[in-house]
Order: sequence, then C-alpha cells, then structure tokens
Amino acid sequence: MTPNFAEDIKSELLDRQPFKFHHNLLGHPALSLENLSRVLPTLPKPQVMYSKGLLDVDADFESTFRKRPKERSLEETIESIRTTDSYIMVRSPEVDPSFADLYKALCSEVSALMMARGVGKAPIDSQLYLFIASPNSVTPFHIDRYSTFLMQFRGSKTVTVGMPWDDRLVSRPNREAYVVRQNTKLPWSVERDAFATAFEFSPGEALHIPFIAGHHVRNGADDVSISMSIIFNTAESMRWKDALSFNHVLRKQLARFGMSPTGVGHSAIRDAIKSSMWHRYLKLKGYQG
Ligand SMILES: [Fe+2]
Repeated sequence: MTPNFAEDIKSELLDRQPFKFHHNLLGHPALSLENLSRVLPTLPKPQVMYSKGLLDVDADFESTFRKRPKERSLEETIESIRTTDSYIMVRSPEVDPSFADLYKALCSEVSALMMARGVGKAPIDSQLYLFIASPNSVTPFHIDRYSTFLMQFRGSKTVTVGMPWDDRLVSRPNREAYVVRQNTKLPWSVERDAFATAFEFSPGEALHIPFIAGHHVRNGADDVSISMSIIFNTAESMRWKDALSFNHVLRKQLARFGMSPTGVGHSAIRDAIKSSMWHRYLKLKGYQG
C-alpha cells in the first residue's frame, strides 16, 4: 500500500523544526466535499466548531470557536463557504467510518516516525482535525500543546511557523501559562515574523508544526481551503508538557524571591525530573483534596 506520507518526510526533525514534505492523499474519497457535507452534520455538535467572519492575526483563537452561530446551518455553511467568510474546524472526524481506516494508517505512520526518532512507540492522544475555510481566512498566532502534521487538499495557504522553544516568539512565562490553559491569547506583532518561516502551502503538500512552535495561517485569496491534520503527543512531548506545567507553578513561587526557573526544552534530564515532580505535585494536591 502507498504510504500516506511521501518519502521526503524528515523524521529526524520531528519536534525539532518545522518542515514541508508531501502527502499521497489527494483524491481520497473521505476528503471530498460530498463526503464532508454528509459526515459533518452527523458528528456530535461539540466536534464541529465554526466561526463567521474573518479573524485578525492577533485575535483570541480558542475563544473564537466556543459559540456556534444559530442563524445558519452547517450544510448551508459548507455550500456557501466561498463567500461567507466562514471557518469550520472539525475534531475527530475518524469517528465516522469513512475516516476510520485513514486515521489508523496515519497513526501507524506516525508510530514509525516516532520509533525512528526514539520518542516512543505510538502516538498519544492522536486525533484528526479538518479545517474548511473561506478565502483569506486567518488562524491567529498560537502554539499547540501537541505535534502536528498538516496536509493541504484544496486551495492554498501561507503557514508561518517559528522554531519550538524560541523565547523571542513566545516568552517562557507565556508558553507555560498557555500549556496549563491560564492564557490562550499570546502577544504577536508583525516584527515577530522575522523569527519564523513562511511556508507557501498548496494541495499535495504537508507541513510539520513541532510541539509548542508558534504559528499562524493565512489562506490564499482564490479558493476555499480544505486541510486535515493529525495531532498527537509523543513520550517526549508529554514530558515537556509536564515540565512546562511544573515550571508554571515553580515560576510563581520563585518570583517571590526574585528568581525564575530554568527553561524547558533544553535538557532531557532536567525535563524528565520536572515531569516527575509535576506528577508528585498533582498527587500531593489530590491528597490535600
Ligand atoms: Fe495550530
């Protein structure tokens, strides 16, 4: 069977830096507009989030999808998406049988990449996401608490991605607060793009966005954009998440003494220790009720 990720994928760069490669899923029946129009209305409502109106790059990304416009049905939105400035985000379409095999195959390819990198045997909490967006729509600057492979199927987009752990793009305190969901609005300004790479992205191409790397997306002007991503954590990124959470708590305590903790993502041993401290901390909190 043809692999879904083409041979130009760079497994050695997984969660080290963003890179573009190719996918072999163009023409896959699950991604046709006909199938999407059928599947989306059947999915549980919390899995389908959509926004109306174009967003600014510095908008609060997560809060945008908390409300579902009542005045327009999902079916109508898909049909008129080219002119309505809409953005649909679908979580876990793999619950529909038309996506199930595709999801399984992608997970096993991610497993192989992880093993090649030595960061675990299988993806943790993996999910598919679909993005259907009208021309010119923008996904504001944010970071993700997971790793991503994004695949483009229709339309074009510019995905601007920084390096993970670049404190010039996202400060350490902001990164840690984002991971523990204390803050979902990260400061961004045009000047920060100097620290990131703008990837021009078209159908058949795929992009790796490393865990915690700052990024924003702008769709091309000429067509509706359809893309799909598989998101996942590795054993390594789970440790990073724990260590970042621990740092968030530690930072508050140390601030009283005018001190700050060492950063995460620079020492595997230090991150592993912080990860186990975080688990102890959670346990302790549980004991205290
Ligand atoms: Fe993202």
